Amino acid sequence: MKVFQNVQDIGNLQDALKEALEVKRNRFAYQHLGKNKTLLMVFFNNSLRTRLSTQKAAMNLGMNVIVLDVNAGAWKLETERGVIMDGDKSEHLLEAIPVMGSYCDLIGVRSFARFENRDDDYNEAILQQFVKYSGKPVFFMESATVHPLQSFADLITIEEYKEIPRPKVVMTWAPHPKALPQAVPNSFAQWMNAADVDFVITHPEGYELDSKFVGNARIEYDQMAAMEGADFVYAKNWSCPGVSRPEDYGKVLGDYHDYLDWTVSERQMAVTRDAHFMHCLPVRRNMIVTDEVIEGPRSLVIPEAANREISAEVVIKRFLEEM
Ligand code: CP
Repeated sequence: MKVFQNVQDIGNLQDALKEALEVKRNRFAYQHLGKNKTLLMVFFNNSLRTRLSTQKAAMNLGMNVIVLDVNAGAWKLETERGVIMDGDKSEHLLEAIPVMGSYCDLIGVRSFARFENRDDDYNEAILQQFVKYSGKPVFFMESATVHPLQSFADLITIEEYKEIPRPKVVMTWAPHPKALPQAVPNSFAQWMNAADVDFVITHPEGYELDSKFVGNARIEYDQMAAMEGADFVYAKNWSCPGVSRPEDYGKVLGDYHDYLDWTVSERQMAVTRDAHFMHCLPVRRNMIVTDEVIEGPRSLVIPEAANREISAEVVIKRFLEEM
């Protein structure tokens, strides 16, 4: 594996899940793999879980870890080629990336959607430059369009908590005051489509996700109908993906106050099959989900976040095994 971006990059999902559960039983069993190897984690955006869990995973594997917050202490980076650099950006990504690559064996990068240009975001303009110019293997720690470490952790969590062989998993859009990227729902759709689950997506009209992630997933615009018989409810907000109206890309459609009945509450959970509640966090309470549901006995948000260490460890372990 040279790049970890999509579900296909991890290979057979059953093998990956088996490996994850084995790593979870003894997370220090592979310390020798990372000896004298360095992971560089590059953050263009904030993080709590990704930063801590990925660093912990690398330390479990015996690696040295360097963390760079690009917007806190590094030179401001220009990302566009051909720009006359007479503004506040002192360094170009095209020099910075190979320099970063020279100090490490493996790079993880977080760079969210910018919502300036849909094609740039959906072509992964920033991450692809790391893949091309760093000279090192790269894994995506949430890019413009995907968050594979999160989705792998989500799948591990579903595997651990499912009560029937093929559970019904419902991903529901929920309201949010600010525009959020589509990376988490895109990846979750991609991974659920590859997993052995009955997968349904529900959202208001206008929030259709890109077909390359949705695949053949069932779309149900009636949230309550979608929830019926669900075993897992995965809540997430996303802004308009701009599929049918590119001019709306990255926007919150309408007034979010008009969508507060989409907030996951006991009303929706009551029609499920006593579903587990999931969210990648951070979450705005009583926008995405009520206090009662997130604090309830079926909420998995904490074990789900804890599994981020496991998904990261399996992915980094796979890279190290090929070095
Ligand atoms: N879920 C997740 O990626 O959390 P952070 O943004 O805090 O890393």
